[in-house]
Amino acid sequence: MQRRALIGMWIGLFSGGLLLSYTSGAESPNLENGRAIYERHCQSCHGERGRGDGPRAPFLSPRPGNFVSAATSVKSDEELLAVIANGKPRTAMKGWADILSEQDQRDVLAYIRSFIRFQRPSLTPPPPGYQR
Ligand code: HEC
Repeated sequence: MQRRALIGMWIGLFSGGLLLSYTSGAESPNLENGRAIYERHCQSCHGERGRGDGPRAPFLSPRPGNFVSAATSVKSDEELLAVIANGKPRTAMKGWADILSEQDQRDVLAYIRSFIRFQRPSLTPPPPGYQR
């Protein structure tokens, strides 16, 4: 009886661990995948470093924005993911929801974010004397 309980507990722990690794896997973006997607689908307009200077950019009106700008940096993940999924009306930016999985969209967003040096300050200020 006791042994059964123990086995049950182990099974519970194991599946709990599986579930946890599965969900956290979905949350942590894969930058390498994001880069591959970006180079394949986005770079021609948005440029190698996301500055909106890809080879197709001069022919677009409006031009693709600069991801490194403060204007894009301050937008939330939700806002940018909505543009990636659905596109932006009256611009060359089409929606990618039919082509990229949700994970792909998050990965490519993480890659775009990696261009940005400017980050919103974290909620907790660094301790006094902390050097970046
Ligand atoms: C045909 C050119 C083109 C391609 C390809 C393209 N984009 Fe865009 N993208 C644009 C344009 C144009 C805008 C709108 C700029 C503006 O807001 O005036 C835009 C806007 C965006 C924005 C919103 C930026 C902001 O500050 O609101 C994001 C995010 C974005 N694109 C991501 C992507 C991703 C990711 C891909 C590849 C999966 C991609 N784009 C492919 C042209 C393109």
